[in-house]
Amino acid sequence: MKYFFSKEYENIQSSFIRDVLKIANQKDVISFAGGLPNNKLFPRKEIESIFKEYSLKLPNDLFQYSATNGLPKLIDVLKTQFNLKDEILISNGSQQALDLISSIFLNKDDKILVEEPSYVGAIGLFKSHGAICHTIQLEDDGINLKKLESKLQKNKYKFFYVIPTFQNPSSISYTLSKRKALAKMAIKYNLILVEDDPYRYLNFKNKIQPTIYDFAPNNTIYIGSFSKIFIPSLRVGYIMATSEILGKITVAKQYKDLHTNLFSQYILYKYLSNFDIFKHIKVLNSSYKKKCDFFYKTLKDELNDVLEVEKPKGGMFLWAKLKSNMDTKVLFEKSKKTKVLYIPGSVFFEDKSEKSYLRLNFTNSSKKEIKEGLKRLKKVFS
Ligand SMILES: Cc1ncc(COP(=O)(O)O)c(C=O)c1O
Repeated sequence: MKYFFSKEYENIQSSFIRDVLKIANQKDVISFAGGLPNNKLFPRKEIESIFKEYSLKLPNDLFQYSATNGLPKLIDVLKTQFNLKDEILISNGSQQALDLISSIFLNKDDKILVEEPSYVGAIGLFKSHGAICHTIQLEDDGINLKKLESKLQKNKYKFFYVIPTFQNPSSISYTLSKRKALAKMAIKYNLILVEDDPYRYLNFKNKIQPTIYDFAPNNTIYIGSFSKIFIPSLRVGYIMATSEILGKITVAKQYKDLHTNLFSQYILYKYLSNFDIFKHIKVLNSSYKKKCDFFYKTLKDELNDVLEVEKPKGGMFLWAKLKSNMDTKVLFEKSKKTKVLYIPGSVFFEDKSEKSYLRLNFTNSSKKEIKEGLKRLKKVFS
C-alpha cells in the first residue's frame, strides 16, 4: 500500500531530542540530554493532598466538556498570581501554544525570523507548517538589533520567535535595554513577536525580568508554561495576546482538541489556590543553582582543556563549545557507547556549519552522576 502523506510530513524528521530521551532511561546511562526538571523536586506531597481531597469529593464539572479557552477559575487565579494584564487561553503546554500560533499565521513558504541557535521543537514545528526560517545570531545580551533592522527593511516576516529568558539551548537572557529596544523595533516595523518564556522564573537570584510583552502588548504573543516550574506531565501552558489574536487562537483550538484536559487544569487550580507556587520556585532555584555551580566547577576541573563554557544565571542548560571544533554529533555515537548523553549543538542551528557546540542539562542529575558523567564525557572528547 502506498501512502500519500502531506508535503510537510512526507520527509519530516523525528525530533533528535525526543529520540535521545528514549535511550536516556536505559540502565547505567547518565543523561545530560533532556530539559527535565528535577525528579525529586516535584511537589508530591501537595499533589497527593489534592488527590486525597478529590477522592472524597469530586466536583461535578470535572467530568464534563469545558470551555475552549480554559477553566475560568484557573484563568482568574493565574491572572492574579502572575499579574497577567490581558486575556489568556490555557493551552496543552507551550508546545501546543506554538502550534496554535503557527496554525493561525502560517501559509506555506511564509518567512519567519528565529534566533540562531533556537529551540528545535519550535523550529521543526514551524517548518511542518511550511514556514521558511531566517535566522538572527544571538549575542551575549540578546540578538543584534542592527542585523534585525536590516532584515526587516528587506523582507516581510510573519513573526519573530524569541526565547528572551535563559534561552534553550544557550541560556542567554536579553538585557532590559534590549527587551525595550526589541519591543520598540517591533512596533516600528509592525512585527509580531512570539515570546516563548518557559524559563522566566528559573532565575537563581529570583529576580524576574519584565517581559517584552510588557513593552509592546499589541505586537507580542506571550507564551507561559508550568512544565519547568511545576509539573511537565500536566501539559499546562497559556497564551496571552490581543483579543483579536486570542479569538482566532480559540477557534483554532476548538478544531484541534476542544479544550485542555480538565483534570490537569483542576490540579493546577487547586495547587495555586492552596499552596504558594513562588515558594516552590525558590526551592527549585536554590537547588538548581547548587547543581549548576557544581556542574560548572567539575566541567572546569575535568574538561577545561577541551571545552569553553559560560556559567548560566538561571534556566536548565550549560551551553558549551569544543575548542577543537570537532563535530559533537559525530562524537555522540562514542558518547552513547560511553553511556553519557548530551544534545549535539548542531540540532539547534539552521547554519549546518556550526558543529562543535553541545547542550548539557544540569537540573536532573545528582552530584555523583554529574561527577561520573563528566568523567565519561572527558573520555569521549579526548
Ligand atoms: C523554549 C521552549 N519552548 C517550549 C517548550 C515546550 O514546553 P511545554 O512542556 O510547555 O510544552 C520547551 C521545552 O523544553 C522549551 O524549551
